[in-house]
Amino acid sequence: MHNFFIITFLILFFFYSKPSAALGEGTLAGGWKPIPNVTDATVVDIGQFAVDEHNKEEHVSLKFVKVVKGESQVVAGMNYNLTVTAADGGVESSYVAFVWDKPWQKFRQLVSFKGPV
Ligand SMILES: *[C@@H]1O[C@H](CO)[C@@H](O)[C@H](O)[C@H]1NC(C)=O
Ligand SMILES: *[C@@H]1O[C@H](CO)[C@@H](O)[C@H](O)[C@H]1NC(C)=O
Repeated sequence: MHNFFIITFLILFFFYSKPSAALGEGTLAGGWKPIPNVTDATVVDIGQFAVDEHNKEEHVSLKFVKVVKGESQVVAGMNYNLTVTAADGGVESSYVAFVWDKPWQKFRQLVSFKGPV
């Protein structure tokens, strides 16, 4: 009888401590860590993706210039919060893009794109 409670407790503990796959901007996720190298290929790729997706969704034609800074968070995959520079008809501005990436499923989603900021 005792063991039953211990096992139930362990199972509940296991589920509550796992990050939920349904959370884009997860509350149960790890902390945000600054991205040390904004010219890293994956980070640049995410920045480019964010601008491309935003263009598709909003029927605009921003041109990705660079990632200025960013932070990432381990969730079910990785959340990226990037400040990117993009050019709108020659005028460069900063935008803040939030991207959810699950590389092993080839899943990448633009959660939000704000700016110019
Ligand atoms: C940042 O990433 C780029 C591309 O991978 C690399 O060429 C460069 O050496 C890296 N810089 C640092 C400081 O790690
Ligand atoms: C993303 O980064 C921007 C700029 O640094 C910041 O203002 C914003 O609060 C961040 N968003 C999240 C969800 O951390």
